[in-house]
Amino acid sequence: MIEILRTPRLIVRRFALDDLDAFHAYRDDPEVARHQGWDAPFARATAEALVHDFATGPALEPGQWTQFALERRTEPGLIGDVGVRLEAVEPTAELGFTIARGHWGAGYGREALRAVAAFLLDDLELERVVAFTHHENIAAIASLHAAGLIPVAVDGDDLVYYRARTATGSHRSEPDE
Ligand SMILES: CC(C)(COP(=O)(O)OP(=O)(O)OC[C@H]1O[C@@H](n2cnc3c(N)ncnc32)[C@H](O)[C@@H]1OP(=O)(O)O)[C@@H](O)C(=O)NCCC(=O)NCCS
Repeated sequence: MIEILRTPRLIVRRFALDDLDAFHAYRDDPEVARHQGWDAPFARATAEALVHDFATGPALEPGQWTQFALERRTEPGLIGDVGVRLEAVEPTAELGFTIARGHWGAGYGREALRAVAAFLLDDLELERVVAFTHHENIAAIASLHAAGLIPVAVDGDDLVYYRARTATGSHRSEPDE
């Protein structure tokens, strides 16, 4: 396992080839896909090719998405992912995030987002993280708020969320909720 970071309850790691079944299951779930950039049903062959790329491809190449796997510390197995795309020129990263439906509402989305944003801002010293979410995606909006991102713009049907690096590097602390 190639671990990137830990949160109180989660491990953020590179994908592994045996994540395929769990990955395909949530990509194939229409409720998970509702506001995402893919459609359900989701072909298993496509999931297999993606997991192979996620597990073996380069990480954090500017301009490219890198998907990191989310796993609970107490129980092995994929429960979701966080995507990171570093801008090629600006010190900015775009975030995407998905949690399998069986694990919604437990706070994993916000916990993963907060930790990955902290990693990007404090450790990689980027200046800002951004995320786009459909304006009706209530759970995503709540997760982004809880992870300290704020809405700054409207882009078609999407809201644009943003968080900047601060001099004090306080991103690891729990937000005021
Ligand atoms: C967005 C997503 C990652 C949130 O994950 P999560 O682990 O359930 O998030 P959290 O537990 O941190 O909860 C976030 C908030 O949404 C609420 N919520 C969770 N599921 C919900 C649902 N189905 N409907 C309405 N609200 C919901 C939670 O109660 C919580 O609200 P609160 O802060 O008022 O308590 C998850 O819903 C998901 O994977 N959705 C499909 C993929 C997607 O749309 N990703 C976002 C792309 S921008």
